[in-house]
Amino acid sequence: MAGRRDGPLMRNNEQSFCKSKITIAIAIGVFFGCVFAFLFPNGLFFVSNSAPILSHRLANSITQVGSTQCESSERINMLKSEFIAASEKNTELKKQIRELTEKLQLAEQGKDHAQKQVLVLGDQKKAGPFGTVKGLRTNPTVVPDESVNPRLAKILEKVAVQRELIVALANSNVKEMLEVWFTNIKRVGIPNFLVVALDEDIAKFCESNNVTVYKRDPDEGVDSIARTGGNHAVSGLKFRILREFLQLGYSVLLSDVDIVYLQNPFNHLYRDSDVESMTDGHDNRTAYGFNDVFDEPAMGWARYAHTMRMWVYNSGFFYIRPTIPSIELLDRVAGRLSRESNSWDQAVFNEELFFPSHPGYAGLHAARRTMDFYLFMNSKVLFKTVRNDATLSKLKPVIVHVNYHPDKFARMKAIVEFYVNGKRDALKPFPDGSE
Ligand SMILES: *[C@@H]1O[C@H](CO)[C@@H](O)[C@H](O)[C@H]1NC(C)=O
Ligand SMILES: *[C@@H]1O[C@H](CO)[C@@H](O)[C@H](O)[C@H]1NC(C)=O
Repeated sequence: MAGRRDGPLMRNNEQSFCKSKITIAIAIGVFFGCVFAFLFPNGLFFVSNSAPILSHRLANSITQVGSTQCESSERINMLKSEFIAASEKNTELKKQIRELTEKLQLAEQGKDHAQKQVLVLGDQKKAGPFGTVKGLRTNPTVVPDESVNPRLAKILEKVAVQRELIVALANSNVKEMLEVWFTNIKRVGIPNFLVVALDEDIAKFCESNNVTVYKRDPDEGVDSIARTGGNHAVSGLKFRILREFLQLGYSVLLSDVDIVYLQNPFNHLYRDSDVESMTDGHDNRTAYGFNDVFDEPAMGWARYAHTMRMWVYNSGFFYIRPTIPSIELLDRVAGRLSRESNSWDQAVFNEELFFPSHPGYAGLHAARRTMDFYLFMNSKVLFKTVRNDATLSKLKPVIVHVNYHPDKFARMKAIVEFYVNGKRDALKPFPDGSE
């Protein structure tokens, strides 16, 4: 920019005194040009606005010095101070440009992402007539990557049915419940289930009961984190292990062990969402969502504020398809659990799944489905409602999860008596809640 005017300037000058001053001016000009070339190499819009204006002004000044035969050194001083001011302004501009560049990059990433999705999902389409359009909720599955865990891949090949299986994590503390868990799964005739053994004792227990078991390799990174890390690191383990199943291309019905299986759940799934989960809700409203009106009388005319509410998904029983949003969910949950002490995994799971994007936060875009709360029943529904209702108590759920009660083992056995062995009074001894 400014440097281009060097040639004519030199030729037009004869007095050596002036030459030296002009050399200084030129040096300043060249340096200034270099600074700008260095700062704005990419032709950002800032370059086409502010920067040329500044450098143009400086270039004009230099030309004037040459053409007026160096009338005073004042001009040089002016130039110098102008240069200093410009340098300061540069620092500020540099900072602003760095910030803008980052923002532009982020925007570009978003644009790219949207373009890639169009490529993946096919051509852009016109919207159909009124009432005929449907948004996408079933995301494509990932390409299976066996290299992630070849040993697990071999096990899953044998045990999964149509690339689906039930997975539970267990250690010796839950051995009794685990036995009720797999005994009922076997009785229902479900072949595709697996236990991730977190200790040697449970691995042996499963093997001796013909239960497919996957024992984690103690040298694997995730597990050593879990062993050496605090509680929050361990609670993230479930989500990290699950990730490998999805990467291998399998849909997982993740199951706690305090669950009694009464029918084959794979006959009752929709498979249209990234996550299909049982709910902690206990009726239509709490399970499936409702408009809860918040009343603030002081606001007078606008005293009613409407809120969207729903009871949380149960992170102890959900079906997750091997898609990018699903894996992102697992990563986000595991990441937060490893960073935040005292976070409850179920709360984090729900927050990641439901909170929308907002300033400073990009929400997850995963498709969700709430399971039928009478088929995938929590123990509050069973003990508060169903057992006291002549009609509902005759219907057999798919599973019952004893998530609302601490006396899990006793209630699990009673549920088996009630639904499997037909003992109609087996649930009677238990109070609705815990005592
Ligand atoms: C496990 O399977 C083997 C072979 O199918 C059978 O002989 C054995 O009785 C089974 N054990 C149990 C505990 O079911
Ligand atoms: C709950 O929803 C189901 C299905 O929409 C409906 O059949 C049933 O009557 C509802 N129950 C209540 C108590 O509103």
